[in-house]
Amino acid sequence: MPQTLAVEFFAPGVRLITLQRPQALNALNTQLLSELAAELADAQADDGTRAVVLTGSRKAFAAGADINEMAERNLVGILNDPRQAAWQAITHFNKPLIAAVNGFALGGGCELAMHADIIIAGEDARFGQPEINLGIMPGAGGTQRLLRAVGKSMAMQMVLTGEPIGARHAQRAGLVSEVTQPEFTVERALHIARNIAGKAPLAVRLAKEALLKAMDTDLASGLRFERHAFTVLAGTRDRDEGIRAFQEKRTPTFTGQ
Ligand code: CAA
Repeated sequence: MPQTLAVEFFAPGVRLITLQRPQALNALNTQLLSELAAELADAQADDGTRAVVLTGSRKAFAAGADINEMAERNLVGILNDPRQAAWQAITHFNKPLIAAVNGFALGGGCELAMHADIIIAGEDARFGQPEINLGIMPGAGGTQRLLRAVGKSMAMQMVLTGEPIGARHAQRAGLVSEVTQPEFTVERALHIARNIAGKAPLAVRLAKEALLKAMDTDLASGLRFERHAFTVLAGTRDRDEGIRAFQEKRTPTFTGQ
């Protein structure tokens, strides 16, 4: 049983993971990151899980890496940091992941939110990379994913000053897709997750993979991957079912085949 997470299941096929280290504003220590990685591995292996929502508390999605734990690690400790394996597992999660962010999403917390495919933010959410204030810099994708999400000027400003931005600002910049009242953030994320969970799983998986390719490949390679994925889906039963259901004016029943 995880000690730092709560896990709930919603039909059809949605898993809600809530970070729970309130005493440290959900700071990401080794235990929390390892438990999160294990939970995502479980969700990935479970055919019944079609989408995952990740959230924190009203005050903090996550306030970054656990600074007290960081204080105990020297250079050798960082080179052999067990949290790296956890971050890798989170990075390679291949089902839809939606972050419902209220309050602080700072440092590793902002980086964790950026691992999600979709970010829904409460209007009081604050996104920032304050590592520079500690004499360090982002180390879990913060320079790379933030720049791709908000562009060079905004990413430079955030990373070099450490100043956070609010939810509306983050939405205008492209980091967040929707802003809600804080009490509805999780509900809205669950609604989107349920919608995605009803789609054909193979199409969802390949569409996610193709969209992520656009972040790290050139256009010609990305288009080749898209064409290949599109062709693979042409041979699936779910494609036949989707088209037949349209013609018969009914809701499709997808089986993942
Ligand atoms: N690590 C460990 N503990 C943390 C923490 C963190 N990142 N963030 C907050 N806490 C703890 C505080 O120490 C405090 O504990 P005590 O009650 O025992 O003193 C508790 O959580 C509540 O925090 P505050 O009293 O500070 O709450 P606040 O509302 O006054 O301020 C805050 C909130 C602005 C988020 C402030 O806590 C803060 O600046 N936290 C640090 C944010 C930060 O620098 N994050 C980046 C970390 S480095 C990183 O993330 C690198 C990486 O991943 C690669």
